Amino acid sequence: MIFTRVAFILFLGLYSNILLVSCKDQNVTEVNVTEANVTELNEPDFATPEYILPCSRKDPKIDSCFLGTLNHIQPYLVKGIPELELPSIEPLVIPELKIENGQGPVRIRAFFTNITAIGPGNYSINKVRVNISSYRIDLHLSLPKIEVNGDYDINGNVLLFPIQSHGNFWALFGDVEAIARIQGVEEVRDGIRYMRIARLLIDFSLGRVRFRIMDHLNGNNVIGQAMNQFLNQNAKEIIEEMRPAASASIAKHFKEFLNTAFSKLPMKIWMHDT
Ligand SMILES: *[C@@H]1O[C@H](CO)[C@@H](O)[C@H](O)[C@H]1NC(C)=O
Ligand SMILES: *[C@@H]1O[C@H](CO)[C@@H](O)[C@H](O)[C@H]1NC(C)=O
Ligand SMILES: *[C@@H]1O[C@H](CO)[C@@H](O)[C@H](O)[C@H]1NC(C)=O
Ligand SMILES: *[C@@H]1O[C@H](CO)[C@@H](O)[C@H](O)[C@H]1NC(C)=O
Ligand SMILES: *[C@@H]1O[C@H](CO)[C@@H](O)[C@H](O)[C@H]1NC(C)=O
Ligand SMILES: *[C@@H]1O[C@H](CO)[C@@H](O)[C@H](O)[C@H]1NC(C)=O
Repeated sequence: MIFTRVAFILFLGLYSNILLVSCKDQNVTEVNVTEANVTELNEPDFATPEYILPCSRKDPKIDSCFLGTLNHIQPYLVKGIPELELPSIEPLVIPELKIENGQGPVRIRAFFTNITAIGPGNYSINKVRVNISSYRIDLHLSLPKIEVNGDYDINGNVLLFPIQSHGNFWALFGDVEAIARIQGVEEVRDGIRYMRIARLLIDFSLGRVRFRIMDHLNGNNVIGQAMNQFLNQNAKEIIEEMRPAASASIAKHFKEFLNTAFSKLPMKIWMHDT
């Protein structure tokens, strides 16, 4: 922790020096930025909201403490936490998701809108690993069943077969196992420390997949029906091909989702120093 703080101050010091140098070069009037007032902490004793079960940096069992925190917050996430601008995750509504895959047998650009997912609230956390000095958090989650529907617009080609389709889709994913790797950074705003997610990596595996699309573009013509059938019959392979791109897109969504919350939640509230 001390190491991180020192590193952070050094980093800011370095950063302000670079700023000064570049300002000098451009002959702009320079401001004497000192490190002190950038990083000086002034953290009041915040009240602990009911949805937070704080952990301590010094807790030798911080992993299991975090597991408790994540289990405790689950019913609140299901309902949504307005003061953190977190909408309900049950159902989880994702206004839009863009997935682009430019290589391999499935080269498509898919744009999903108005996505509604039923089942994310039933997550269970199997494993948590936390390294609080480097803000590294790994989570292993299982989701028994996720049912998703929404609108889609895809074009590209699958096995050189040109695809252009838009309409509604419905999908059922069973026995989803996911791993989320969070790399956080500490940020100080007005003397208060916050954690921001700098990087979020998600990977998942799907036990079962059922998938149906209802194409609106090609209507009931023969090509439209053939394409529909082709996509439905190859759904599992297509999803497997799209998995890295889909993971990246889902991670991007959740990174924004979570950073909105973290930016409103001083670190001291969920992570005590003593
Ligand atoms: C930069 O500032 C110095 C001193 O104020 C002045 O002599 C010089 O002409 C300035 N250079 C430019 C490029 O404005
Ligand atoms: C900038 O601040 C440092 C430390 O407070 C001080 O020693 C230095 O003289 C200041 N420089 C200018 C140009 O004000
Ligand atoms: C930081 O400190 C410097 C020198 O003491 C001061 O001029 C500046 O206004 C301060 N900046 C902030 C954001 O408080
Ligand atoms: C999402 O759905 C709502 C209601 O079903 C509709 O009004 C809206 O236009 C849709 N948005 C998009 C981007 O398709
Ligand atoms: C969540 O799990 C409970 C218990 O297994 C089940 O009754 C419920 O239907 C599930 N909810 C959803 C949205 O899948
Ligand atoms: C936590 O991360 C730091 C920096 O990467 C590393 O030096 C340290 O060994 C890690 N601690 C544990 C318990 O893994």
